[in-house]
Amino acid sequence: MEDYQLLIDLHKRSNRQGPGGDAESEKALSLAMIDGVAPLKIADIGCGTGASTLLLARLLEAQITAVDFLQDFLEVLENRVENMGLSEKVTTLCCSMDNLPFGDEEYDVIWSEGAIYNVGFERGVIDWNRFLKVGGLLVVSEITWITASRPSALQKYWESEYPEIDVASSKICILEKNGYSPIGYFILPEHCWLDNYYRPMQNSFKDFLNRHGNSEAARAIVETENREIELYEKYKAHYSYGVYVARKLDQRMP
Ligand SMILES: C[S@@+](CC[C@H](N)C(=O)[O-])C[C@H]1O[C@@H](n2cnc3c(N)ncnc32)[C@H](O)[C@@H]1O
Repeated sequence: MEDYQLLIDLHKRSNRQGPGGDAESEKALSLAMIDGVAPLKIADIGCGTGASTLLLARLLEAQITAVDFLQDFLEVLENRVENMGLSEKVTTLCCSMDNLPFGDEEYDVIWSEGAIYNVGFERGVIDWNRFLKVGGLLVVSEITWITASRPSALQKYWESEYPEIDVASSKICILEKNGYSPIGYFILPEHCWLDNYYRPMQNSFKDFLNRHGNSEAARAIVETENREIELYEKYKAHYSYGVYVARKLDQRMP
């Protein structure tokens, strides 16, 4: 099996594919002052197996388009949606986030947890702006430095993994320069990484290795994930996901 398929097999069995939490998604909803009653059109971009999609569908009167480029993840989400009786609220779309087939000003809310880095934060906030109605809301989480300086080994690691990693003030500045009014920011607490993402993943390693006959490729994936977890445990004082909430401005205004 290709490494890519192995990674899908490891992650598709999880509730989420990145750090996050229901309470934190709810906190973002309340910062955004999103009304649970008004009918809304929402796109959840890079939804994975749908932790955030399901929460939004449960709490809001909304039509949600859940987008991911991996059909395997969307199939898991479709089953979860059906089991929870939420099929009327959620439609899946298998599509790359850099080629979305949405119309101008089609959505009230664009939501994206732990996924915008795939196109890059700046490019994502610029490209997705046109899909939002004026006054619509962008809610995205993005890896963020939470200290002004950090150990050079950590700096080097993240700059090679994701050169756009930066402090929150820089991310907020990007929002301000690109047609948004930032209205809220907070960082994901440690339990979103450890209890909600890394520990369940570690608990799944044994079955994952068994399913793949303890192959070299499967062991290499487990090693890479363990290195990422060790890095987080050692340096968690310096980085987290920032959750950014911003409103689209009317750019025709003087
Ligand atoms: C770190 S995971 C986060 C998933 C989910 N939002 C969560 O928090 O559990 C990133 C997601 O983005 C998806 N993804 C990566 N590149 C993509 C692209 N170009 N277009 C659409 N989805 C993409 C991955 O398949 C994965 O589901």
